Amino acid sequence: MTLRLAVTGTSGQLASSLIEVGANAGVEIIPIGRPQLDLAGSSEGIAAALAAAAPDIIVSAAAYTAVDRAETERDLAFAINATGAGAVAAAAAMLGVPVIHISTDYVFDGRKPTPYLETDPTGPLGVYGASKLAGEQAVAAATPNHAILRTAWVYSPFGNNFLRTMLRLAGERDELRVVADQYGNPTSALDLAAAILVVARNLVATPDDPGLRGIFHATGTGDASWAEFAAAIFHASAALGGPTAKVKPIPATAYPTPAARPANSRLDTTRLNTAHGARMPAWRQSSEQVVSRLLKAR
Ligand SMILES: NC(=O)c1ccc[n+]([C@@H]2O[C@H](COP(=O)([O-])OP(=O)(O)OC[C@H]3O[C@@H](n4cnc5c(N)ncnc54)[C@H](OP(=O)(O)O)[C@@H]3O)[C@@H](O)[C@H]2O)c1
Repeated sequence: MTLRLAVTGTSGQLASSLIEVGANAGVEIIPIGRPQLDLAGSSEGIAAALAAAAPDIIVSAAAYTAVDRAETERDLAFAINATGAGAVAAAAAMLGVPVIHISTDYVFDGRKPTPYLETDPTGPLGVYGASKLAGEQAVAAATPNHAILRTAWVYSPFGNNFLRTMLRLAGERDELRVVADQYGNPTSALDLAAAILVVARNLVATPDDPGLRGIFHATGTGDASWAEFAAAIFHASAALGGPTAKVKPIPATAYPTPAARPANSRLDTTRLNTAHGARMPAWRQSSEQVVSRLLKAR
């Protein structure tokens, strides 16, 4: 039987990736976004929009993702990322289906020197991270039938992301200053979408297995600083005759932003790999593929 998977948001990076990957995997993806489903709206409206899709599983991907703007839009960020996320999970519980909720590495403060485990204490540095952490708690309170996937540094051929910004800037400048003392795991939204399909099938097949539920870290394999990620993007682009630029490594202190970012937000994905059998490819290989695809589309 074809799996019916409802995803919140219609044009986001992850929703767009699920639409593409699902079509190739025989999964019916039903994107639901504004105006039918507004995460800042009433819980009744959210429940009605999701019920109309009659899904087998819900992926809660939509979010307030403007990390810096959140510092001055706290109420809106919490309405969408905490209250809205809780309403989506409550709707899943009402429909008797599992929910896969997408969270972030920014729930951590970045002071741990090694990759974070799911059990490590959280400590968000900014409003966005705090609102996403409150969302995790709202989801867990609404239904035990959930998997919370914390991802990070998401790039794709779609929407706004670091990889697309770097390619654009390389067409405009010879040298770019890029932060070299923040480390994370670049994650292809297409790879994350494929992992979500694995988790979705597992959750639907095993309604009562607590080993497949709870929090999981879900990122690309391998880590990098932003400067290393930029250099890899330019290397891949240059090899294909695309735009390239020299990377000038700078400390985060030389690039102040309204919201502080964790210095280390590398995530340990062992639990996802072993419990769900979902291991994401190496970020270098996947980012080359996205660069190649974007260059071909020019
Ligand atoms: N991007 C990253 O680097 C990153 C890192 C860690 C975790 N995450 C998490 O991964 C998930 C997917 O991120 P993404 O990169 O795909 O995000 P994105 O490209 O910024 O897309 C966000 C989506 O949320 C929707 N949305 C925003 N406010 C909404 C509201 N009030 N009601 C309904 N939909 C609303 C947007 O709808 P419109 O299309 O109508 O604007 C858009 O489809 C999010 O939960 C995010 O927190 C992302």
